Amino acid sequence: MSGPSVAVFGATSAIAEQVARRFAARGARLFLVARDSARLERIAADLAIRGAASVHTHAADFDDAAALGPMLEAMGRSVGVPEIALVAFGTLGDQTAIARDVDAVGRVLTTNFVSPARLITALVERMEPEGRGLVAVLTSVAGERGRASNYVYGSAKAGLSTFLEGLRHRLAGSGLQVLDIRPGPVDTPMTRELGLGGPLLASAERVAADIERAIDRRRSLLYTPWFWRWIMLGIRTLPEPIFHRLQL
Ligand SMILES: NC(=O)c1ccc[n+]([C@@H]2O[C@H](COP(=O)([O-])OP(=O)(O)OC[C@H]3O[C@@H](n4cnc5c(N)ncnc54)[C@H](OP(=O)(O)O)[C@@H]3O)[C@@H](O)[C@H]2O)c1
Repeated sequence: MSGPSVAVFGATSAIAEQVARRFAARGARLFLVARDSARLERIAADLAIRGAASVHTHAADFDDAAALGPMLEAMGRSVGVPEIALVAFGTLGDQTAIARDVDAVGRVLTTNFVSPARLITALVERMEPEGRGLVAVLTSVAGERGRASNYVYGSAKAGLSTFLEGLRHRLAGSGLQVLDIRPGPVDTPMTRELGLGGPLLASAERVAADIERAIDRRRSLLYTPWFWRWIMLGIRTLPEPIFHRLQL
């Protein structure tokens, strides 16, 4: 018997690859989308060896609205309407450079908010009539309070979390679930340039294990690792005069 059908958007993301490995081991039928087709093929071959019942790939740039139709047609041919859709693409960018660059602000907001919102809308049109399934989306704890070091990216993620919250409200009782995944800093190519370290930096493997569990339990909100829920509660409640004295 094969596992669930899973569509992964942003399949070359380090976190998404770890999640896909977990579903491959359960014999899932996988549909993978990313823009780097060579990397996509390498990941697909690896997932097949790890036990996926089938793996199909499609190369696309999510910022290209015209690519959406052909992408979803390819999805239909490979897994039909998936039981699980994971939306994992995103870009952090260099906040210092972005902050004063009008075009760069537009690009970051597009990739982290407009493009996923557009994709999720199209996915839900197909998934809602099935009366089951789950759309899981990577947002970020960065969306919980605007900070000097990443507020352009953070504001896009905040918008995306609000979008998911409203969608969950709309879909309540439909059988289709919406999961908002809010990781803290994770050791992936996205954060490598920042030179982060220490106990607050999680591995992609750990975050993927949390994501798999939240999907299985049909949760609607996941902080990963778990302690970010409490760290962000503290950060959100700090009065501005104190907050402004911190380098965050
Ligand atoms: N790492 C963290 O600390 C962290 C924390 C909180 C949330 N997140 C979120 O988790 C998700 C996964 O990130 P990650 O840490 O796994 O980083 P990653 O390994 O750098 O993956 C990001 C992925 O997004 C893809 N991407 C970006 N723009 C795209 C576009 N226009 N079209 C197609 N693909 C595009 C990249 O593809 P290319 O390789 O082709 O550029 C890459 O595969 C992101 O949404 C991120 O915002 C990450």
